[in-house]
Amino acid sequence: MSRARAYTNIALVKYWGKRDPQQMLPFNSSLSLTLDQFYTETSVTFVDDVADQFYLDGEVQPVSAKITHVIDLVRAQSGLQKAALIRSDNHVPNAAGLASSASAFAALALAASTAAGLKLSRRELSILARHGSGSASRSIYGGFVVWHAGQDDQSSFAEPAIANTEQVDFPIAILAVLVDQSQKKVSSSAGMAASVATSPFYPVWARTAEAAIPKMTAAIAAKAVDKIGALAETNAMQMHATTLSADPPFTYFEPETLQIWEKAREIRRKGLNCYVTLDAGPNPKLICQLQDVEKIIHEFQKEFPNLTFTSCRPGPGAYLVNE
Ligand code: DP6
Repeated sequence: MSRARAYTNIALVKYWGKRDPQQMLPFNSSLSLTLDQFYTETSVTFVDDVADQFYLDGEVQPVSAKITHVIDLVRAQSGLQKAALIRSDNHVPNAAGLASSASAFAALALAASTAAGLKLSRRELSILARHGSGSASRSIYGGFVVWHAGQDDQSSFAEPAIANTEQVDFPIAILAVLVDQSQKKVSSSAGMAASVATSPFYPVWARTAEAAIPKMTAAIAAKAVDKIGALAETNAMQMHATTLSADPPFTYFEPETLQIWEKAREIRRKGLNCYVTLDAGPNPKLICQLQDVEKIIHEFQKEFPNLTFTSCRPGPGAYLVNE
């Protein structure tokens, strides 16, 4: 039995669109920060049973096609013919409003490959995790991580954006803001497929996002949190422009999302760095300077007393947990 933990990540340059949905190859490279707050722990045991089994937070669940796909890849690589018993626990506080597929498939890739006796490199783990969920390729690593779009299965992998550092001393904080706990209306897979197929702006998005990677890497190297935030906010809104320009159009914004964005801009006018990013749901994440966290939460709570904030710092890459 092997047990692994992986943390979720927030994309600063987003992955939005699959060039090859079977191989999970994206149109553009993406860049994220692994967080220290929200994680999944998964144990995998290979057993003499007829079928794979999956428990989430102690309750038996159907084994999704994506889980089967990742386990099948592990069986193919190891030659093992057994069934997998998978137990997963999500440590994502209800107040977080963060998706967990990134942490889930990163933890599954590490636990399943180790349980099967494989000793995969970080790059191989990133490729394996990518087959479960694109963003999971990045959660194999801690700190700032770039997922190279690549040309084929072996060239589409993630690695640290800046070599040899998990950047835990970086003066950045991410505030996860909860505005809505309801289920996503359009999954990220379905949303990106609609943008790719119907938004006339899609090709411009993919080119612009790719061009943002070296700019973001330079801002990270300079530890320029204001630059990182400004680039991330622009990139997020460009991604969301491909949903508003799809046919039929759709959006992940809720009224509160726009109110929070407006408030962030007001806080910036007061001289604090506070930028917004948003994934395939209405809950924004604020990008700010570590030293400003209390002041920014205070500013928000003056106007929105019921909002919940979870303050996150850079987190570690996936690792094995000893029982
Ligand atoms: C908006 O990785 O959840 O969060 O590959 O279909 O599992 P699948 O999609 P997923 O998409 C993440 C989209 C995003 C941006 C990002 O994390 O880069």
